[in-house]
Amino acid sequence: MPVRTRTIRTERLVLRQFSEEDAPVAYDNWMSDPDVTEFLTWSPHRSSYESCRIVRSWIRSYPQGSMDWCITVLPGPEPVGSITAVQDHPDEGYCELGFCIAKKHWNKGLMTEALRAVAEYIFVNTDYMWIQTRYDKENEASGRCQEKAGFKSVGEVLLPNPKDADAMRTYVMMRVDRPKTLR
Ligand SMILES: CC(C)(COP(=O)(O)OP(=O)(O)OC[C@H]1O[C@@H](n2cnc3c(N)ncnc32)[C@H](O)[C@@H]1OP(=O)(O)O)[C@@H](O)C(=O)NCCC(=O)NCCS
Repeated sequence: MPVRTRTIRTERLVLRQFSEEDAPVAYDNWMSDPDVTEFLTWSPHRSSYESCRIVRSWIRSYPQGSMDWCITVLPGPEPVGSITAVQDHPDEGYCELGFCIAKKHWNKGLMTEALRAVAEYIFVNTDYMWIQTRYDKENEASGRCQEKAGFKSVGEVLLPNPKDADAMRTYVMMRVDRPKTLR
């Protein structure tokens, strides 16, 4: 598969591939922050070594067509977050996006901007018919951000908490369909 994580520019952001130098800054900016990971499937990294390992694995996957963007805010180039196709199903014509951004940049509309741009990029550059997201029902900021980016709720699912198999969490499933102009 060709490289699919190509640079995307928006009014305030550059979304680009991760490089190895990003890892220690990513650790400081969001990967070590328990407030960022509260509703995520992973726990805060305990050392920048852990961040290095995950960033390296993303870099190794680019040639296989993975979609893993590093978010930078202009003028950059500091990494401040990520937006990723956490599930990718080319044969079924859809993917699911996951994303996070450093706390110092919350509530400025930046993830809405990133999510819209990545959805547009995917519809233009692939033949995917829809893009899926989800959020923990208590993570209202994420729900709001997804709605602002054009995603609509398609239902709720009760799933085990990825960090505590004995507890259940309610997730809202969201999706945006390929625009008619691109069909
Ligand atoms: C969720 C997250 C990605 C949102 O990013 P962001 O750049 O702050 O999002 P935006 O600024 O584009 O939009 C956030 C919206 O949520 C609203 N919001 C913030 N906190 C809220 C809360 N506790 N309850 C309800 N709405 C809230 C903001 O006011 C804003 O809406 P508005 O523009 O109508 O005022 C970011 O908070 C984050 O990285 N969180 C940790 C990781 C995470 O939860 N990722 C998503 C997993 S599904």
